[in-house]
Amino acid sequence: MLAWLLIACGGAGNESEYPFEPGPDMLPGDNCRSCHKADGPYEDAPEWTVAGTVFTDASGSAGAPGVTVRVIDDEGTIIEMVTSSSGNFFTAAPVVEPYLMELEKDGVIVGMPTSPPSGGCNACHASGPIGGAPGALYVGSFASTMTCDGASTLTSNDGTTYPCDPYVCDTDTCLFACEGDEDCVDGTSCDAESHCR
Ligand code: HEC
Ligand code: HEC
Repeated sequence: MLAWLLIACGGAGNESEYPFEPGPDMLPGDNCRSCHKADGPYEDAPEWTVAGTVFTDASGSAGAPGVTVRVIDDEGTIIEMVTSSSGNFFTAAPVVEPYLMELEKDGVIVGMPTSPPSGGCNACHASGPIGGAPGALYVGSFASTMTCDGASTLTSNDGTTYPCDPYVCDTDTCLFACEGDEDCVDGTSCDAESHCR
């Protein structure tokens, strides 16, 4: 009798309109913006300006809850999200490029050294390295550190170098806006919109 009930529940009565279960904990690790963008493949998928997943390790085996994901955009607007049990985060709030991305857990902050070219974080931060990204966004990466060479190159503790051009770097991050020409590499200058050009 019980078996019949279970079959009934798992069957026709529970069919989703989609081949996935939509909602905040859907498809961790997938590039959310492959669907959640303007003119995406699904009309009912709202656009997320920034969305992705933070994992407990680089291979993406489990989601990391309780990580604060912070956007600091070009107008100084700060948007904070906290990862859910799946590790997912998302926002529909408008974000002015270029922007700084930070992850924070237990008071330790890890930032992306430059403005991401897309808010679809998992497009690059997947379980294998894509687009030069070190792999999945994961909590263990909080051990990684960046050092500025005093000019415009950051070096991470695994030896990877990262150019900040046309901005200079500051201690452990690239500048992403300038206040004067001293914040820009030689040959570029700081314009009225705080961009080195
Ligand atoms: C393959 C396409 C696809 C991917 C990839 C995808 N989603 Fe979705 N998602 C949808 C669709 C379609 C809906 C809308 C379902 C509906 O309302 O009918 C949805 C709904 C949602 C909702 C509920 C929105 C609401 O207002 O009801 C959230 C939250 C969400 N997705 C988050 C995410 C996150 C975070 C990611 C990435 C980890 C992601 N999605 C990846 C297709 C996708
Ligand atoms: C086009 C590819 C790409 C996209 C999209 C992208 N990143 Fe990155 N990200 C990188 C690369 C490359 C690095 C490595 C920089 C380095 O370590 O030299 C990186 C590094 C990081 C780091 C530092 C990791 C560490 O171990 O120190 C964080 C945090 C980060 N990204 C967050 C994000 C977030 C959040 C998003 C979504 C808004 C995002 N990234 C989107 C390519 C990308």
